[in-house]
Amino acid sequence: MENPLTRHEAELIQHSFNRIEPGSIGIAHLFYQTLFERHPDMVALFPDDMTRQKKKIADTLNIVVNGCMFIHKLKHSLEELGRVHKPFKATQKDYDAVIDALIYSLEKQCIEHWSEETALAWRKVLQYISNIMMSV
Ligand code: HEM
Repeated sequence: MENPLTRHEAELIQHSFNRIEPGSIGIAHLFYQTLFERHPDMVALFPDDMTRQKKKIADTLNIVVNGCMFIHKLKHSLEELGRVHKPFKATQKDYDAVIDALIYSLEKQCIEHWSEETALAWRKVLQYISNIMMSV
């Protein structure tokens, strides 16, 4: 199996993340704010206290950015993450909502290094991740 991303796409993702504050908690905060504003029906799925959840999504983003040169090697971990999501019965539409809110939040936080090409590279990696998560 090969990396679905080209080297250039992986570099765009990594450079876009250079400017984000350590820990990426700001981006996690903006992500859930955006997701819940656009999809109030999703709020009920998540705990009231989102502190741990924000840390988990921030850690996941960091893993994706560090691993995007060999993202295909994370397949088993992503299948495991997909299994954790099974009880939520998320549809392709739900995954699209998550991807759109993540890309919006990344764009807002990566002002200096963001371009249409960067957005496409992020969309590609997030779609790849979602496909693996949905496949289990
Ligand atoms: C690219 C897609 C996604 C990624 C990378 C992602 C990432 C994560 C991570 C890392 C966790 C923490 C898992 C753990 O506790 O070990 C989590 C939990 C969760 N995710 Fe996702 N997720 C994605 C899509 C979705 C979608 C589409 C939904 C909508 C149904 C969703 C709903 C949830 C819920 C409800 C939790 C558990 C919250 C809790 O009770 O603690 N996720 N997600």
